Amino acid sequence: MGTTRYDIRIGSGVLPATDWEDAQSVLLVSDANVAPLHGERIRAHFAGAGLRVEHVVVPAGETSKSTDAAHQIYDGALAAGLDRRGIIVALGGGVVGDLAGYAAATFLRGIRYVQVPTTLLAMVDSSVGGKTGINLAQGKNLVGVFHQPIEVVADLDMLVTLPAREYVAGLAEVIKYGVIWDKALLDLLEKNVDQLLARDGALLAGIVARCCAIKAEVVARDEREHDLRAILNFGHTLGHAIENAGRYAGPLHGEAIAVGMVYAAQLSVRHADLPLPDFDRLRALITAVGLPVALSALPSSGGAQQWSVLRAAMTVDKKSVAGRPRFVLATELGAARPGYELPDDALEETFNALD
Ligand SMILES: NC(=O)c1ccc[n+]([C@@H]2O[C@H](COP(=O)([O-])OP(=O)(O)OC[C@H]3O[C@@H](n4cnc5c(N)ncnc54)[C@H](O)[C@@H]3O)[C@@H](O)[C@H]2O)c1
Repeated sequence: MGTTRYDIRIGSGVLPATDWEDAQSVLLVSDANVAPLHGERIRAHFAGAGLRVEHVVVPAGETSKSTDAAHQIYDGALAAGLDRRGIIVALGGGVVGDLAGYAAATFLRGIRYVQVPTTLLAMVDSSVGGKTGINLAQGKNLVGVFHQPIEVVADLDMLVTLPAREYVAGLAEVIKYGVIWDKALLDLLEKNVDQLLARDGALLAGIVARCCAIKAEVVARDEREHDLRAILNFGHTLGHAIENAGRYAGPLHGEAIAVGMVYAAQLSVRHADLPLPDFDRLRALITAVGLPVALSALPSSGGAQQWSVLRAAMTVDKKSVAGRPRFVLATELGAARPGYELPDDALEETFNALD
């Protein structure tokens, strides 16, 4: 993105290219869940094209966005004899994508990498845009670098093995794109909830392509329209606070974002003239796909997160300015504006009104 161009290929059974200039070695990176399900097919694909392939498997889960796991990849890269012409292939969800992308950005001061996203979230969000990184004990994504992949290959068949809870969590980001940019996408989702939940391939192909196109357009326009990219964070101010308060071991990202979107939409009704029927529509869609709309409905949150805890978490969020959280609000379905700073009493009052 930006001035770098790369292909995003989406479809049933699509495979990465193998004819990269000069490449002789590939380091495949995946996690302990994805490797046994999809690793061999991708390994055999590269090996069949005459490339040398080594496979590094990191533990599944957020804890693998760590310096230890990055070192595991550097060790694997050296053992595989990867030089500057080598390619890292990130086969997995956002964790593997962020980690392997970070390792590719830093190994030998930067080598090429391919994103093969295997979760819905990774297909519509994390594999596109070039943000890579790892976590520190003090917080998420505190170390990272922009490094664009040379290709993103989303094989929708891989979603078949994704646990239902992970799949539904990914739908939160899909809904977000509709709210901030594309009302027609929301219409499509509303009309096809059953097929969506059945992971209908043809429907998903269109939806994933649309989400990637929206992310690419927003990020590209950000260079001209200052801070436009921030609209991608609709629902994320409270969502991140919920994740942080749960020490990233509670609700999934998409579940926290779903509640955060309901909150942001309620703020939008009060402070950005979002029509109340639009709020109701959004809330109904979030419910229809099986996502939570209230803190009390969040799995493993204890159901009782307090405003003071969440408000404190917002203060330390990377996107706060001088401790003041900034909100993205929707002015109508399909349009959003970033940068709203609202008084604390208004934030708390709206929070208390969420049920
Ligand atoms: N770089 C970005 O722009 C960006 C954007 C959004 C999120 N992220 C990051 O993405 C991460 C979350 O990504 P995620 O939600 O994909 O989580 P994840 O990578 O942890 O995957 C979720 C779970 O599903 C399993 N899994 C993945 N694909 C599977 C498949 N096809 N079949 C069966 N199991 C499968 C994984 O092993 C894991 O247990 C976070 O670290 C977040 O910070 C990055």
